[in-house]
Amino acid sequence: MPFFSNRDTDDEAAEEAAEPEEISSDGTTWRVRAADLIPGGASTGSKRPDALYGPETSFGPTHFERAVGCRLVSTDGAELIDCSMALGAVALGYVEPSVTEAVINAARAGNVTGLSHTLEVEVAERLTAVIPCAEQVRFLKTGAEAVAAAVRIARAHTGRSHVIGCGYFGWLGWWKGATGLPAGAHADFETIPFDDAQALHEAAKRSSGKLAAIVLEPVIERLPSEEWLNVARRACDNYGAVLIFDEIKTGFRIRQGGYQEYSGITPDLATFGKAMANGFPLAAVVGKRDVMDAARSTWISSTLAGEGCALAAAGAVLDWHERAEVSEALWSIGGDMMAAVSRAVTASRVKGVSVEGIAPMWFLRFDDAHRESRFLELALEEGVLFKRGAYNFASLAHDDDTIAAIEGAASAAFVALREEAN
Ligand SMILES: Cc1ncc(COP(=O)(O)O)c(C=O)c1O
Repeated sequence: MPFFSNRDTDDEAAEEAAEPEEISSDGTTWRVRAADLIPGGASTGSKRPDALYGPETSFGPTHFERAVGCRLVSTDGAELIDCSMALGAVALGYVEPSVTEAVINAARAGNVTGLSHTLEVEVAERLTAVIPCAEQVRFLKTGAEAVAAAVRIARAHTGRSHVIGCGYFGWLGWWKGATGLPAGAHADFETIPFDDAQALHEAAKRSSGKLAAIVLEPVIERLPSEEWLNVARRACDNYGAVLIFDEIKTGFRIRQGGYQEYSGITPDLATFGKAMANGFPLAAVVGKRDVMDAARSTWISSTLAGEGCALAAAGAVLDWHERAEVSEALWSIGGDMMAAVSRAVTASRVKGVSVEGIAPMWFLRFDDAHRESRFLELALEEGVLFKRGAYNFASLAHDDDTIAAIEGAASAAFVALREEAN
């Protein structure tokens, strides 16, 4: 029994055909309207049509009407199993009842006023109890803001500017050049390769006395070696710099407390977001008291940073982690998803594709971008939305029947792909 009834009966089709253009449920229309009004077609980079399905493609829905669990209904009326789960922002499932109820209650009680919300303190207290490095907390709205704030706090704390890092840290200009940024905006940031202990050691040694921070996304496609993180920890200790883990994807996923809980290696600061509030806009920079204290000497502030709804969502997520082994379940469910899609690859005898990553966040790697696009199109026809060129994320809503459906859809799509190649 599907979560949603499809809306493609004759009556409904006729009703939709009669609807004026601006409220049409036709998927193409939404794509066209978005392209006209929103540069690139979407405000989130990974949801632009070319990011969803590949450059110069015109297939596939771009907008949804509603969602529950791990299923969405797109504007063309298709019910799709979502493997991308809002880019990892939703781990408990869409419209998870306790999260939804908490958010509604928070909205009813007054989301913001001229004073701070009590939830800001309560959720901060709870984060310090479950994240190893967290003694203090500052809330923000996006991952990009949280990492930028962590780096600013590290610079304020050390009085130095140089930062070494590895990962994706969001759209702000302190770490990566982009058109529209002054040339020197990220001059004090040095990129190092993932999991290369020697390169990290040498970069830290070169900068030594001017090193403010090492900021690492601890998991990129695979788990890192312990050595890499130990070298980072030692370098920061030796040179008086701040070690920052960006746990935006790993927090509340591979463990509640992120990779630091998983590995036992504790940074000085860390950033959390995404699954922390199950799809509501909340991010945090957390860390040791003496380092976090520098937040008072610089300027980090946002009007709605402490609004109630997202904090209430985070409270409900924390409740979930208190009463159930959420991360263990995500590893198990993600492992089943990976195994199912791997079986589909093997059984179809398709070439040039592999299933990689770690169980809670895994991905499909294609040798050929055109074939990846074609696979995504075929999979959509079978009712599954896979993520192009990035992670698929496990959620508690991907139950056994859903995973069987994903395997069936992937098999059919891979078989068709192989046959087209012949
Ligand atoms: C590791 C990491 N850091 C930072 C960000 C930026 O977060 P946001 O898109 O919420 O600004 C992301 C987003 O994908 C991320 O994966």
